[in-house]
Amino acid sequence: MTSPKHFALAPLAAGLLSFALVPQAGAQPTTAPRISAQPATAGPAGGAVNCNAPFGWWESPNLNPIFPANKPPPGPTDCDFQIWSWTAFVHWMQNDPRTGKPAFLNLPTPDDLASGDPARMRAAPRALVLKPRNQKPKSLSEIQQAGSGGVLVDQSGRAVYYATHMDPVYFATAQQYYGAANYAKAPPATPFPVNATVFKTAWRIVQPNAIPTDAYSTQATIALLESDGQGGLRTSGQTQNATVALVGVHVVGVVQDHPEFLWATFEQTNNAPDLPPNVQPGSSDPVSSRSFTFYRANTPANASNQMPTSYTIDPATQAISPVTNAFRQFAWGGATPDRVQDITSSNKNFQDHIRGGGAKSIDQVFANYVMHGTVWILANTLQPGDGNLDTQAIGSPSLASSVMETFVQGAGTNCFSCHNTSGGSGYPGKDINLSHVILGSLAPNPELLRARR
Ligand code: HEC
Repeated sequence: MTSPKHFALAPLAAGLLSFALVPQAGAQPTTAPRISAQPATAGPAGGAVNCNAPFGWWESPNLNPIFPANKPPPGPTDCDFQIWSWTAFVHWMQNDPRTGKPAFLNLPTPDDLASGDPARMRAAPRALVLKPRNQKPKSLSEIQQAGSGGVLVDQSGRAVYYATHMDPVYFATAQQYYGAANYAKAPPATPFPVNATVFKTAWRIVQPNAIPTDAYSTQATIALLESDGQGGLRTSGQTQNATVALVGVHVVGVVQDHPEFLWATFEQTNNAPDLPPNVQPGSSDPVSSRSFTFYRANTPANASNQMPTSYTIDPATQAISPVTNAFRQFAWGGATPDRVQDITSSNKNFQDHIRGGGAKSIDQVFANYVMHGTVWILANTLQPGDGNLDTQAIGSPSLASSVMETFVQGAGTNCFSCHNTSGGSGYPGKDINLSHVILGSLAPNPELLRARR
């Protein structure tokens, strides 16, 4: 059982672009027929369906992400999308035997790309470097301007930190169009290629004597924060080493016929409660009678998911006030009941396998992560210049992570609300605008900066 694991990750080390190309091209005959046999679940009938990993997948070398290519009409089922999300998660959470850490930690970040240093740009072991939520995102829509400046503060007063990790296929495209001159050359209708995969991870600071057993934890270099003198927070330029625990993972990748990427989100099981269906977000009713990592028992809904008008911080301890109480406004991203069944059955199947030691290459701690849903659009309908992509979302149309999009949740708000092909008023409409890594490399648009004041 150890040989697949060593086999699995060698290509990652070499940063081979062809690494992920094999499985999604349908080159795994043992898995393909079983996938095709999955019944559609989005149809009117709905019904009991199990979104299981295809037969033989857990024994396959590399545990590669799978999505059926060229599946005869009616094409892939809803299950296929959820299974892609889970197989991509498992694949990249596998341990690299060289580091003993999950393989995604080998992937380059936007800072590595910006450095232009070839050694940093290769997929290879590296230190985890974390930043607080981007304070000045290259906003493209109202919602971002309104929402993404907020810092999520955990119950011990520490900011939650983030990182972005690009697989070699995604990285190559991001690099090709990085910066204003390269961006200008990008044809509007050129999407990221099949297999391009990117992750955003969220981490909380843990004390060395309080390392959780139900979350993956590791060492990181974190950017320290200070007050900006106007009630906001900014990075001080100093860094510190810290022990951090993984609380959320966005898993995003292009598969055959879906150049819009599949957008999935995973959270540690104990992050935050779901808002009960009978409670309004603005209500003074409590969301839950029990405490979660980011929610104190009995906090009213209207005192949760709030971005304060000002923060204070103790520079020495880095303790921030006020803390954030968070909830997930839409369980399973507001999916219909048959799709909820897809999501929850895939969660059970994959978690059971991981917990049971179903694959030696992945740490059992990853059984404590829940997929909350996936969004995609109709096959091959992506157009450049589409700022309404979120209205076309299929799957979980109100998908958000309680630790990544805490302050911007709402009915019909999903990943495509910010990740779409419009350029807002500042940039031309292009398929590559789906990536904020590329947009982030462009000079801030003066018009947008004014609008944000
Ligand atoms: C409110 C706007 C907004 C929403 C909604 C949103 N994102 Fe993002 N996302 C951003 C911004 C801005 C960045 C770049 C800065 C950063 O990393 O924080 C980003 C970065 C990312 C990245 C890193 C790659 C990249 O394009 O920069 C991933 C992966 C990602 N988001 C996934 C998701 C997923 C999955 C969802 C839905 C569950 C989602 N996002 C919803 C604004 C948003």
